[in-house]
Amino acid sequence: MRLSKALSTTVVPLVAFAAAAALANACGVPIGTYSPPLSGSGSSSGGAPDIGASSSSGSGGSSSSGAIGSSSSGGFPSIAPHPQFGSSTAAAVPPPPVSGGTLLVTGNGAVVASDPDRDAVYVVDTTSMTTRFAIALQPGDEPGRLVEDGAGRVHVALRGGGSLVTLDPGTGAVLARRAVCPAPRGVAWEASSDLVWVACATGELVAFPSAGGVAVHSFVIERDLRDVLVQPGQLTVTKFRSAEVLRIDPSGTVVRRDKLFSPQTRVPHVAWRTIAGPLPGTTLTVHQIESTESINTHVPGGYGGKFGGFPGSGSSSGGVPPCIDLEAGAPVGPDGVPAPGPTARPSPEIVLGPIVQSAVTVLDAAGRLLGTAPVEQGVLPVDIALSRDGTFSAIALAGNGFGPLPSVQIVSLNASRNGALLNLAVTGKQVIAVAFDAAGNFLAQTREPAELLFVSATKAVQVLSLSAQSRDDTGHDIFHTQAGGLMACASCHPEGGDDGHTWILDGVLRRTPSLRGTIAGTAPYHWQGDQKDMSALLEAVYTGRMSGAKLDSGQGALLTSWVESIPAPPAPGWVDRAAALRGHTLFESAATGCTTCHSGSKFTNNATLDVGTTDIAPAGIGRAAFQVPPLVGVGWRTPLFHDGCAATILDRFGQCATAGHGATSQLSKQDVADLTAYLETL
Ligand code: HEC
Ligand code: HEC
Repeated sequence: MRLSKALSTTVVPLVAFAAAAALANACGVPIGTYSPPLSGSGSSSGGAPDIGASSSSGSGGSSSSGAIGSSSSGGFPSIAPHPQFGSSTAAAVPPPPVSGGTLLVTGNGAVVASDPDRDAVYVVDTTSMTTRFAIALQPGDEPGRLVEDGAGRVHVALRGGGSLVTLDPGTGAVLARRAVCPAPRGVAWEASSDLVWVACATGELVAFPSAGGVAVHSFVIERDLRDVLVQPGQLTVTKFRSAEVLRIDPSGTVVRRDKLFSPQTRVPHVAWRTIAGPLPGTTLTVHQIESTESINTHVPGGYGGKFGGFPGSGSSSGGVPPCIDLEAGAPVGPDGVPAPGPTARPSPEIVLGPIVQSAVTVLDAAGRLLGTAPVEQGVLPVDIALSRDGTFSAIALAGNGFGPLPSVQIVSLNASRNGALLNLAVTGKQVIAVAFDAAGNFLAQTREPAELLFVSATKAVQVLSLSAQSRDDTGHDIFHTQAGGLMACASCHPEGGDDGHTWILDGVLRRTPSLRGTIAGTAPYHWQGDQKDMSALLEAVYTGRMSGAKLDSGQGALLTSWVESIPAPPAPGWVDRAAALRGHTLFESAATGCTTCHSGSKFTNNATLDVGTTDIAPAGIGRAAFQVPPLVGVGWRTPLFHDGCAATILDRFGQCATAGHGATSQLSKQDVADLTAYLETL
């Protein structure tokens, strides 16, 4: 057992950190406990909590004191403490990437927790703090989101198992298992029709009768679906990478697309979790906001920026910090005036800090921005829960494990009321899900070891072990933990994939590539092939750009092998098979020449070639040559190309086709449709 994990989770009231400058949102409510020191100050004494340092002492880990703000090993400035991973371990079966949002409190108070790492679902009685049932599913099922229906049955989306499983939390019985789609994600119950809706990352939206039986609705909306919400007169589905909120009519048509909040020089991406908001018809989303400015990758810590936080949080010229104040009645925008409509955006805006940050956004049923708040130092905000009285929300920050940053933060949803639970910080642990029960108690689920934290309204803390099975994996840990620059690999590669964002790195466009099934055997890396292998990449990115400590060779090898183990995503079921077959033949034909470059099991010959896709030859490299991208899972990661040129696969044959990129000008419309169908299946 690793020392850093053997130490039990610390749940501490804010008052313990009187010396730390508690961060506050505009409502004047403390939302964090960690006081950022000046970069390189090298000392944490008398300042912020030093839990990270104490848990590392004697661990024999590679680096550093863990002192906040110091950068003892890499020599680069860090803006947050380096995490302490303890001794290195590899799980026998690589754990799946963190997805979050796996806790449910049922109507009669039972807690049901999905465990995607152990393919199990637990039913917990919080009165006695005992596990009533541990329901084993099939290996690789990866249970995720859960929902309760009107009869008290619980339906769980099996992310890996492609199914919806229905459980009786009263008996622990599995009542049904119904195939849904290759990648189920969100689930919701519709009272009026007694249907359970399932949204799939492969694009399907399916409805089943709660009591059992075959699907009664099955729509193909579009790829990247995440959560689904049934609200009066409206079916809402979110998209994960593009962070859009889609409104769906009864025929399965997208009738409106709403945008989440982002300040200037940022765009919203990666809508980790969306739940029903505090007012009827509203949605509450925790998501990322990502930089649209040019980032200097040659400056150590370039991804972390200068610590500054959200616009207005003290650093901008007199701007009012963003806040959600729903109690005041009128919708309030971040600038303190009523938000006039979906396009409302705050100003003035100065954004400093990490190039990926987290935010909470509330939209009303018409898609108007009701409020937004930053989640300061919020790395990997994988889940959000709302207190039953709707006054505050808790956010699980999976990326803040292994150190003193809070793994749970509370954002107040109104100005005047303070809840008892505001004074809460969970540190050291990787929290993957949060919930409130009807009595106002707070619950958090940790990944490894699998535990349920129960924090009563009076802040008494109880910890229940959910499973004795360890899924400890150092590579997985490093990938999912902020390195020192308040950013994790998974911030840009969420769930091992990509954030759908096209960055500007050193003045040129660079879309984040997916790592799902594309890394083993495809070196060199990065679009221009400038990283000769993973260890070069980790040195440049983790230790350099992300302000991480220097990884020792064991840690680097474990991170590499975990990244290489990320499975390829499944193909959607809706592709016309005959068309895909014809497309396959075309793809392999000498006439198109695709396989001269896109060859082998990953569809790449690993060459770096100029196929005419840009006129801009980056300084220092001197040519516009790019790695032949693997085409595994290509349909999951639009926009395509190094610069995000192709919003859809079809665009690859249209506006993004170039003379040097295979022979496509002779293709008929039907040929292009067939090739597109084939690529959708890879
Ligand atoms: C700020 C966002 C961001 C973070 C954080 C980040 N990446 Fe990336 N990743 C990218 C972008 C953008 C590229 C393409 C860069 C380029 O081509 O210059 C990339 C490329 C890669 C590639 C190459 C893929 C290929 O097919 O060539 C790998 C592997 C990778 N990242 C792994 C990681 C790991 C491991 C971490 C953590 C140590 C990490 N990334 C952190 C954005 C990010
Ligand atoms: C001469 C080598 C070569 C040939 C032939 C070739 N490709 Fe490519 N392909 C590339 C390179 C290099 C890129 C990356 C270009 C960029 O990002 O600017 C690319 C990018 C792509 C992408 C985008 C993938 C992503 O992740 O962004 C798709 C899709 C694709 N090619 C399909 C095809 C098809 C279909 C054919 C045959 C009609 C083909 N390619 C022929 C080299 C080739």
